[in-house]
Amino acid sequence: MGAWNRRIVIVANRGPNDFAWQDGRWVVRPAAGGLVSMLEPLARRPNVRWFCCVSEPPDAQEAREGLYTTAADEADPDLHVVPIPLPARLYQAYYGQISNEVLWMLQHGLVGADGLAAIDARRHRAWEEGYQEANRRLANTLAGATPAPDAFLVQDYHLYPLPALLRRRFPRTPILHFTHIPFPDPPALKLLPEAWRRAILAGLLGADVVGLQTPGDVRAFLAGCADILGAAVEERAGLVRAADGRTVRVRAYPASVDPAALAQVTLTPAVAAARARLAAPAGARTIIRVDRLDPSKGQIEGFRAFERLLELRPDLRGRLRFLAFLVPSRTDLAIYRAHRDAVYAQVERVNARFTPDDGQPPIEVYYTNDREQALAAMIDCDALLVNSRRDGMNLVAKEWAIVSRRPGALIVSETAGAADAMAGGALPVAPLDVEGTARALARALDLPAAARAARLAVMRESVLRWTADDWLGEQLAALGLDAAHPDLVSAGPALTLPPPAAATPALADA
Ligand code: F6P
Repeated sequence: MGAWNRRIVIVANRGPNDFAWQDGRWVVRPAAGGLVSMLEPLARRPNVRWFCCVSEPPDAQEAREGLYTTAADEADPDLHVVPIPLPARLYQAYYGQISNEVLWMLQHGLVGADGLAAIDARRHRAWEEGYQEANRRLANTLAGATPAPDAFLVQDYHLYPLPALLRRRFPRTPILHFTHIPFPDPPALKLLPEAWRRAILAGLLGADVVGLQTPGDVRAFLAGCADILGAAVEERAGLVRAADGRTVRVRAYPASVDPAALAQVTLTPAVAAARARLAAPAGARTIIRVDRLDPSKGQIEGFRAFERLLELRPDLRGRLRFLAFLVPSRTDLAIYRAHRDAVYAQVERVNARFTPDDGQPPIEVYYTNDREQALAAMIDCDALLVNSRRDGMNLVAKEWAIVSRRPGALIVSETAGAADAMAGGALPVAPLDVEGTARALARALDLPAAARAARLAVMRESVLRWTADDWLGEQLAALGLDAAHPDLVSAGPALTLPPPAAATPALADA
C-alpha cells in the first residue's frame, strides 16, 4: 500500500479521552496511562478508529445523543474516537466488580481481605450480566459499526472474551489482543470458577496473536492453555492450537515509552515551572514515587521503608524529602478508597514522628494527575522508588530512565515487568521486604555520583533499544501489516536528550 492507510480498529475500555457526565452535559478530558500514551500515535493515523467504553448516566437517551455529538465535536479532530455507551449498572459490574475487583486483584497477587475475596452470588451475576454482557455488546456494536478492518487491536483484561466474539463475526480479520498487566499462572487462574477461567483463555484464543508483557507472562498463558483447556501447546515456539483448529501465536511485547516525545515534554514551560516549584532546599536530598493510588503499587510498604530508613540513618533526618505523586484512581471502588485512607494514615504517622520542630514534614503527597509535575520531579530526584507488589511493566521507571538528570538512582521491585530492562542499573527489592527496601534506599543515596551516572546510562540505553514504536511496530508486523512505514509512528523531532547535570555528591561523599 503506497501511503500508510491501513484500516485499524483499536478496542479498549479506556479511550484517549475520558467522557464524564457532569451537570447535565458531557465533559471531555485527555485520559492518562501507559496504554493511552502508547496507542495515541497510531490513533492519529487517518484510518484508525478507537472504540472505548463510556458509562452512561441513568437518564440515558438524551445523554447518548449528546455523547456522539461531543465525540464528533472533540477538540482534537485527528483522534478518531468512537465511544460505546454502556448502562451505568452494567458498566459498574463489568469495570468495577469484575475487571478491577476480581481480575486486577488476582493478576497482581492481591488475594484475601485487601484484594480478591470470596466470589459470591453477586459476583457471579456481575460476571454474567456485567463482564460477559459488556463484551457481547461491544462485539455487536463493532459488527454493526465497521466493515471488516485490516486488523483489530484489542486491549487488556477488561476484554478477554472479545477476540473470540469478534472471530465469529469477522472470521478472516487479523486480531491481536494485548494484556498490559501480569498474566496469572494456572494455580492463580484456578482461584476463579472453572467457567470463568475457561472463558478467559478461550476468549483470548479467538485472536491470531496473544500479546503479553514478559516471557514469564507468555509461559503462564501457555501453561494455562495446556492445563485448563487441554489445548496442544508448543512452548518453545509460543504456539497454541485453538478449539477451531487455528494456530495462535503467543508473544512478549514489553511496553515502553517514546523517548523523543518525553524529551520534548521536558522542555515545556510547565515542566520548567514545576522544577522551580519543587526544587530541593540547599543540601537536601529527594526520593520520589509516581504511581496511581492502587493497592498493587506498594505505597504503604514504601512509606514504611522510608520510616525505617529515617530510623536507621539519623544523619538523613531533616535533610531528606519524599515527594509522592499519587494519581487518583478508581475512587468509586471501596477497596481503593480504603487503600487511600490507609496510605494517608501511614504518611501522617511518619510525618508525626519525623517532622523537625522548625521544619517541613519529610513526606509531601501530591494527590493529582499532573504529568508535567511528575516529570519535573523525575528529572531532579536523587532516587525513584518503584516497589509495586506486581506490575505488568511500570512505564514510570522507563520514563525516569530517559529524563533523569541529577543523575538519580532507581529502586525497583523484582516483580515489576520493568525489572528486566533495568537489570544492571537499578537496585532490586522484594516488594514486601520493608527492611530490604529501607536498606536499598540508603544504598541508592550513598552511591557515589559516578556510579549513579553509570547505572543510569545502562538503563537509558536499555530503554532506547526497545521503545513504544518497537512495541507497536512488532505487533503490527505480527499481523502482516507494514509496520516499518515511517508514517506509522509519532513523526516527532529527532531525539536530543540533555546530558545528566553535573552530578551532586552522594551523602557518603559529602
Ligand atoms: O495498564 C493497565 C490499565 O488498566 C490500563 O488498561 C489503564 O489505562 C490503566 O491501567 C489505568 O487504569 P484505569 O483505566 O482503570 O484507570
